[in-house]
Amino acid sequence: QSNMLKLADGNQIPQEGFGLYKVTDRVTMRNSIQAAYQNGYRLFDTAQLYGNEKEVGQAFKDLDISRENIFVTTKVSEANQGYQRTINSVKESLKELQMDYIDLLLVHWPIQRAFFDTWQAFEELKKEGLTKSIGVSNFQIIHLQYLATQANEMPVVNQIELHPRLTQKPMLKYDQEHQIVTQAWSPLGRGAMLNIPELESIAKQHNKSTAQVILRWHLQNGVSFIPKSIHPKRIKQNADIYDFKLSADEMKQIDDLNQFFRTGREPELTYENNHQY
Ligand code: A2P
Repeated sequence: QSNMLKLADGNQIPQEGFGLYKVTDRVTMRNSIQAAYQNGYRLFDTAQLYGNEKEVGQAFKDLDISRENIFVTTKVSEANQGYQRTINSVKESLKELQMDYIDLLLVHWPIQRAFFDTWQAFEELKKEGLTKSIGVSNFQIIHLQYLATQANEMPVVNQIELHPRLTQKPMLKYDQEHQIVTQAWSPLGRGAMLNIPELESIAKQHNKSTAQVILRWHLQNGVSFIPKSIHPKRIKQNADIYDFKLSADEMKQIDDLNQFFRTGREPELTYENNHQY
């Protein structure tokens, strides 16, 4: 089973988790979650936007996996931001998931104006016990600085696109300085990083796959990461990263692959229409 990382609110989060983006089919969902659970994954990452919360909840029921053995993340989509919409949509998510609390609730994207109201709703949902921890996703430093001055509680997690072609050093430094756990989405760059020659050569040295080298790099960086796969062999392989170690030199070689390359969209750089940065 994965290492645990401490969160600033006193809770803990598994360092390695399982991504569920684009898994919508009920049978695929159940089989993937089953393979992941058998291989020691305990964190499962979904979102309102993925349209699969119902299938996620059903899979845990079908597999007879009890609630206290898993850590579930979901995210409030852009369409549901704003105070009351957030509260309503999270209650809806809990219904879909057939759960009475979420472990980690994230603001999916920092949309203008609404994200602060959304955040206030998160603080309330945490007070009511509907979520154990609250965090954000795709926030830039500027958004976190705003929360640092305006919010009662800071996010304990910031989930961002992070992989060898987008190493996000300034963001990692900010998170570290503010006791925020950085979590990598698309830790494998959606599978597009697997043929980078430098990584292939490091992988050969350790008799591991390129995917394993990338995940080991995340692990040694101290960030949380949530690889996705629907193939049991890959699910197993992605959890088998604890029997080798990258040298400082190899870590640096991977850091140097940064090209500021995003597989996803660019996060917003403003938090108010009239407050441009
Ligand atoms: P699949 O689900 O068909 O296995 P990320 O987590 O960065 O978003 O990457 C997920 C993508 O990488 C998916 O397309 C997944 O495909 C593929 N993938 C995940 N693990 C591996 C692996 N160990 N080897 C090759 N491809 C992988």
